[in-house]
Amino acid sequence: MSPPSAIQNGNSQLSPSGLASSSRAAELETLLELVSQRATAYVAAADAPGARIGDPVPPKELMSILGAHLSLPSTGGGQTEFLAVLDEILKHSIVTWHPGFMDKLYASTNPVGVASDLLLSILNTNGYIFSVSPVLTLIEKKTSHEYAELFGFTSPWSGGLTLPGGSASNTHSLIVARGILYPDTKLTGNGDHRFVIFTSAHGHYSVEKAAISVGLGSEAVWTIPVDAEQRMRVDVLEEKILEAKKQGRTPLYVNATAGTTVYGSYDPFEAIAAVAKRHGLWFHVDGSWGGNVVFSDKLKYKLKGVALADSLTVNPHKMLGVPLTCSFLLAPDHRVFQKASSLRAPYLFHNSEVDGEDFDIGDSTMGCGRRADSLKLFLGWKWYGKEGYGERVETAFEVTAHLATLISSRAGFHLLSSNPPPCLQTCFYYSPNKRDALLNTAEYNTKVTRTIAHELQASGRFLVDYAPPASPEDGKGEFFRAVVNAPTTTKKTVEELVSMIESIGESLDVDV
Ligand SMILES: Cc1ncc(COP(=O)(O)O)c(C=O)c1O
Repeated sequence: MSPPSAIQNGNSQLSPSGLASSSRAAELETLLELVSQRATAYVAAADAPGARIGDPVPPKELMSILGAHLSLPSTGGGQTEFLAVLDEILKHSIVTWHPGFMDKLYASTNPVGVASDLLLSILNTNGYIFSVSPVLTLIEKKTSHEYAELFGFTSPWSGGLTLPGGSASNTHSLIVARGILYPDTKLTGNGDHRFVIFTSAHGHYSVEKAAISVGLGSEAVWTIPVDAEQRMRVDVLEEKILEAKKQGRTPLYVNATAGTTVYGSYDPFEAIAAVAKRHGLWFHVDGSWGGNVVFSDKLKYKLKGVALADSLTVNPHKMLGVPLTCSFLLAPDHRVFQKASSLRAPYLFHNSEVDGEDFDIGDSTMGCGRRADSLKLFLGWKWYGKEGYGERVETAFEVTAHLATLISSRAGFHLLSSNPPPCLQTCFYYSPNKRDALLNTAEYNTKVTRTIAHELQASGRFLVDYAPPASPEDGKGEFFRAVVNAPTTTKKTVEELVSMIESIGESLDVDV
């Protein structure tokens, strides 16, 4: 394989013209080769000893570092400019392939993910209508159905669709809930209804954003407190539903979470479902983060009761390492999506219904053009199998338990999560004065956490986020939330993290 410079400076230098080249295939081959050389070197570097995650550079400083690379030219710079800016992007981006990337609820993808994403780009299929997306529509339907079956939606009609993210999926579930339970709202909007929706105090903010999007407003979201294990208090849920009714309001929807964003807790689905059914509410499960334990026979007990849900969000782009974005909204009967959303615009949808099944998936969404994201899970599932994904998830839980055990046995650390934690986040304090962090002031703990998190990133070896307690009983000040992203984060990685926090802590001078 020729080195990048040879191709870049050789005869195959690509034209900056926006018009189609006489040999698109040759042009593509050259460009892919150039990108692939850089991409593989980038991934290899992330695995090399001493690899760095990326430096914390404030926005204005980064803007001046990138300088002219950020400006958009009137005359195209072609391949030379493309490669120059590509190198800058790689150099200054956060390396999600690094084992110390333990900050967010996702990390790098994997080789099959990259290849699938590339295939999607090459096809550039628009997944809204069957006539332009024949194969990928069938793949979306089949993948959604099999995925739904894993969650216990066993009807032949079970399935769903992909949407651009967990938040978008949660929002769509609310639209569908309102449209199915109160069909007149499709025509008249919220009308005289003063809807209320319920979620735990630890639910994701997308539920509140969904309420804003559909014209209910934040005020319509009633948060339910959690128990000692950060799970929704079902007794309070029922009290609140009754209170809403007493106020002449219409309880519409309850969101339960499978893997909350900060602590990773799983709500008691069976009990929530019973309350929701008793009062005629839509029961949605936000399994964006923790839903993928469904692939593990050992761990799927955490989802007991989700089969009673009316809809469920799950994100392969989080725990499974499928490239962003890949989010599914599933249901026991996927026809609800079309029923609640369809407008059958005659200039686009030309009746692709067969035996009551609609093959124009776009009509079941609030959008139009859509990327066929299901292909990425489909190909990943083909590659790893259900068992491969199950092993991936189980390994991540084992590494998380190892981290929690390390933390609970070391002086100066205070584990907030249970041991083992419910999902892949370990929440904890570190106190350089070796006191129990709960005896420190909240101000002190916050300062220590932020300073150490910053130092970890400056070391280039770890990216770990922090969060404030959701309520005063949950802790005193901001704490670390370290996320294990398997298989990149290993037992060795988390051992190094704990040692590094200790060594930063020893030289820390925090005075509050
Ligand atoms: C529980 C939960 N729901 C929803 C979301 C939103 O997902 P997305 O970022 O794909 O919109 C997140 C994000 O972390 C989450 O943790």
